[in-house]
Parts: sequence; C-alpha cells; structure tokens
Amino acid sequence: CLSAGDMHSALLLLLTFFSYRSGGDRLFHGSLLDQDLVLDLDMDLLAVLRRVDPRFLSVTIDASLASEERFMLLLRSQRIRTLATALSPAFLRFGGTKQDFMVFSPQRSQQLDPHENSSSDQRREPCSSVRLPWWLEQRLKQDWAQQQLVLAKEEQQNQYNPVHFTELTVDLLHSFSSCCSLDLIFGLNALLRTADNSWNSSNARSLLRYCDSKQYEMSWELGNEPNSFEKKAGIRVDGNQLGVDFTRLRKMMSEFKLYRDAGLFGPDVGQPRDRRADLLESFLHSGAKAINACTWHHYYVNGRDTSLQDFLDPEVLDTLALKTNEVLERVQQESPGKPVWLGETSSAYGGGARGLSDTFVSGFMWLDKLGLGARLGLDVVMRQVLVGAGSYHMIDDDLDPLPDYWLSLLYKRLVGPEVLKLQLVSDSGRSKRVRLYLHCANRKSFVCSYPGGAVVLIWMNLSRKPVRISLPTGVSSSTVDAFVLQSNQPGEEGLQSRSVQLNGELLKMVDDKTLPELNGTQLPPAEHLKLLPYSLGFFVMMDAQAPACS
Ligand SMILES: *[C@@H]1O[C@H](CO)[C@@H](O)[C@H](O)[C@H]1NC(C)=O
Ligand SMILES: *[C@@H]1O[C@H](CO)[C@@H](O)[C@H](O)[C@H]1NC(C)=O
Ligand SMILES: *[C@@H]1O[C@H](CO)[C@@H](O)[C@H](O)[C@H]1NC(C)=O
Ligand SMILES: *[C@@H]1O[C@H](CO)[C@@H](O)[C@H](O)[C@H]1NC(C)=O
Repeated sequence: CLSAGDMHSALLLLLTFFSYRSGGDRLFHGSLLDQDLVLDLDMDLLAVLRRVDPRFLSVTIDASLASEERFMLLLRSQRIRTLATALSPAFLRFGGTKQDFMVFSPQRSQQLDPHENSSSDQRREPCSSVRLPWWLEQRLKQDWAQQQLVLAKEEQQNQYNPVHFTELTVDLLHSFSSCCSLDLIFGLNALLRTADNSWNSSNARSLLRYCDSKQYEMSWELGNEPNSFEKKAGIRVDGNQLGVDFTRLRKMMSEFKLYRDAGLFGPDVGQPRDRRADLLESFLHSGAKAINACTWHHYYVNGRDTSLQDFLDPEVLDTLALKTNEVLERVQQESPGKPVWLGETSSAYGGGARGLSDTFVSGFMWLDKLGLGARLGLDVVMRQVLVGAGSYHMIDDDLDPLPDYWLSLLYKRLVGPEVLKLQLVSDSGRSKRVRLYLHCANRKSFVCSYPGGAVVLIWMNLSRKPVRISLPTGVSSSTVDAFVLQSNQPGEEGLQSRSVQLNGELLKMVDDKTLPELNGTQLPPAEHLKLLPYSLGFFVMMDAQAPACS
C-alpha cells in the first residue's frame, strides 16, 4: 500500500517527446531516431483539477433559421434528429442577432404545418411519428441557400428585418430538443423597449404564457451581444439597465410554476474589448442575482479576412486564454462562484470562413477550445451552429455532417467532465504546436464503457516537424484505445477537406437513422505513440487506474 506522497510521486508522470525522421505508413508507432525535441509532461492522476457541466459541449441554432418560419420545419428531418440525439446530453441554444428582431405573434399558421391537425393545446406528437416529407426537405434545402443570401445582405448593411413568429416555431424547437434529449434555451428579444428605455416585457410574457400552457420545460436568455445594440439597431442599452431588465424577467418567470426554477442565462456579451468589459461589469452589478450562469461569446478571427495559417497558429489559439481569464476575473470579482459559459462560439465571426470553418482544419480551433476552455474554468461551451446559418455549421446545407460534427461526437463519447492536470515541465517554442489536454474518460457513455480509472489524452498535432511522444511508466503499461482523426486527403490540401477519417476509415452516416460505429483501435501497452502530422484525436488509457477517475 502506497502512502499518498509515494503515490503522488509515482503518479507525477513524465511524458517525453523524442523525434523521429522516418515517415512510415503505420498509423500509431514510429521508429525512434535522434532527439531534437524533448518535452517533459507532468500528469497528476490523483486529484480532479475541476469538473465541467456534463453538457459541456453544447450547440446552438441561430435564430436566423426562423427568419421565415417554414425553415424551422427542417428540424423535423430524420437525419438532423439522428445527428443531434447523438450529442445529448447538451444544451440547445436558440438565439443570435435575429433574436432581437423577433416578435411572437400568436396564431397558428395551419398551412405550414402538415402535421398539426387538432387544436388541443395539450396534444404533442410522439417523437417516432415525426416526418418531413422528402420533397419538402429538398425544397427547404434549396430555398435555404437563397435565404442565406438575403440574411448575408442584412448583416452587411446592418439592417435587420423584423421577424414575426408563431407557436409553430416554438413547437418545432421544443419537439426537436425534447425528442433529441437536448435542453432548450430560448433567447428573448431585448430590443423591445419602452419610452424610458427599459425592457418591454409584454411580448415575452405572452410567449412564456404559451410555453407554460404547453408545459414546455426550457430555459431563457434575454438579448444577444447587447454591446452592439447601437450598431445593429441604433439603441443603446447600458449594463446596469440590462441587469434591471434581467431582474424583471426573473420575476416574471417566477410567476409561472414551471419557470420558477428554470435557468436564465446572460448577458451574452461579445468578447472583452474596452467598452464591452464595462458592460459586463455593470450588468453583473445589477443583474447577477437573476442569472444562473454568465455567458459571453468568443470567435478567434474575422471570417472575411482570415487564412489557413490562422487556423493552425498556436498564437491564435492562445488568444482564447487571454480573453477567458479576463472574463473569469471580472465575474469572480462581481459575482464570485457564478458559472461562466461560452454562450455562443465558433472559429470565425461573420458567419464563419468558407472553406475553413466548414472543413477539417476547423477541428483544431474547436478541439483546442474544448480542451483549453475546460481547463481554464468554463463550464459550458455552445458551438455556433449545429445546423443552418453560415459556414461554421456542424451539419451542412445538404444535411451531411462535417468534420467538426464527428469530432464533437467523439468528444461526447470519450471525454468525461473531470479535468486533470497536465503540464509541460520543459518547454520549447515548437512544443506549442503539439497541444494536449487530459480528462477522465467518460464513464457515463452508453456507447463505450471504460473501466474506472481510465483517462483520455486529448491531442492535436499542428506540426510539420518531427516530434514524438513517449509514454511514462504507469500510463505506458495501459492498453490504449486510439481515435485518430485525419483528413481524407493527404498534405496541406487535405486540411480543407469536408470529409474526415477515423483511424483510416472515412466517416459517413450509414443511413438517416444510423451512425457508423466509432470504434477505437486498441494498441498494446507501448512506450511510444505517434501523433500523425496535422491530425487530432483522443487516446484513452484504459488501465491508467487514475485515483481521480475511479
Ligand atoms: C387528426 O386528428 C384526429 C383526432 O384528433 C385523428 O383521428 C386523425 O387521424 C388525425 N389526422 C391526421 C392526418 O393525423
Ligand atoms: C409594450 O409593448 C406592447 C405591444 O407590444 C404595447 O402595447 C405596450 O403599450 C408597451 N408598453 C410600454 C410600457 O411601452
Ligand atoms: C506531428 O507531425 C509531424 C509532421 O510530420 C510528425 O513528424 C511528428 O512526429 C508529429 N508529432 C508528434 C508529437 O508525434
Ligand atoms: C466495433 O466494436 C463493436 C463492439 O466491440 C463490434 O461489435 C463491432 O463489430 C465493431 N465495428 C467495427 C466496424 O469494427
């Protein structure tokens, strides 16, 4: 029996990186040559550094999908439902710029909804009977492509048309989220203001009343990126007033039994930049008590002027740490202990960068955000978007899953909420290109069940230069379940592919109801593991016997 101290030193593991020159076709093992890069790693397998929400990886649907209500019918697609269900447990946030231009106009639009047939308020269709006729799906997909041009123009001109939505939008959202076991968050319009510039809650009240009558369990937000209200709508709302508005919404929620204890999240500010920071601070002053988590938004780059290099640049990836620490510090000051979430986030703002945000290379930003965000102190990260708006979607306009979808699915299945400490002891500039995070393996996953004590190493290799990873004793005596994601095409061109391979096999849906099996490749205990160039993935150390994870 080891004392805690012995155990700690036994578990303070050293990972060493060596170099190798020979390419070799083998996926996982490389041969050892000289040592031009050595990285020592510390792993603490004794204690959980922090624990994130089980819904850590969550997704959004941009409110622009409701810009014409019929597009919401896409959420009946069997394909989307199969893909979304596999990401549960997760939040589904419905919001974005358009949310502050949306007005609830209660009236059922019969002709749009082929399923609605009774006026009974309590009737809900069973999930299994949901069908979107193929011809309608086809039609909606085509029209959505056109609609995106309209939306892009609105954004360019900073002129947003108002949207009137009916019960149908809410019904479709709720049916989608509940059938896919996702927790719905609905973003309310904060730009309905009274003469004295406080929030006019009357429209929200009628929406809450309707949702309550249908017994829709859901949570709420109010306003999207209030820091740019002035730019988008010529209305200035300061942080203090917004906090007062949130307090008013909380009070209104408490009048409904169903929403008394429901979640309220906000203020969904853009990432800190001078004035925005002030907004967050003064918002928390007056509104912190009303919210369950403090949300902010993060994008690395502008979709209109970014490059492949940005997507692979460790300096760009590191900017997340700067912004996150800034927000965490502020929240800690104003409202200690309040969870902090990325309420909307992706690679590039302005709808993403076509050919980058929707291709394999986007995975580096996404996986690094998940790894770094969990380690720094974020509890939930909501990815913009699951489907719809822009090119940062996880499911494309043909409803095919993109590489980031598959990456997210693997993350869900393999990675547990417990973050473990993994530190570089010795460092060199180049080491920044090999990025590593450590969690307990997911023990709640129905698909893969790993023994207690299993850990998962989340890794990515942005490097062109030879490096190699050598496992320390203890971890090196563990069988490894390896999940290596690579482009389906070799070299740099492959980075912009819309397809991805898992352990050498192209990933694609078997049919609209069936996902492929995502099996790892089991490697016998070994001292060396190889991270392929421009690849990312997960190594589950099945017999690591980490006390923190048992
Ligand atoms: C419409 O509802 C009625 C009863 O509420 C039911 O008998 C009928 O089968 C429904 N029709 C369709 C097309 O679902
Ligand atoms: C709030 O908006 C409603 C209509 O949406 C309007 O009837 C009402 O007068 C407004 N209230 C205030 C105080 O402006
Ligand atoms: C990362 O990719 C490079 C590029 O070829 C490769 O040589 C290197 O071994 C990989 N890094 C690690 C840590 O395996
Ligand atoms: C994946 O693993 C399962 C269970 O271990 C096995 O039944 C199945 O055949 C495997 N699938 C593939 C494609 O290897």
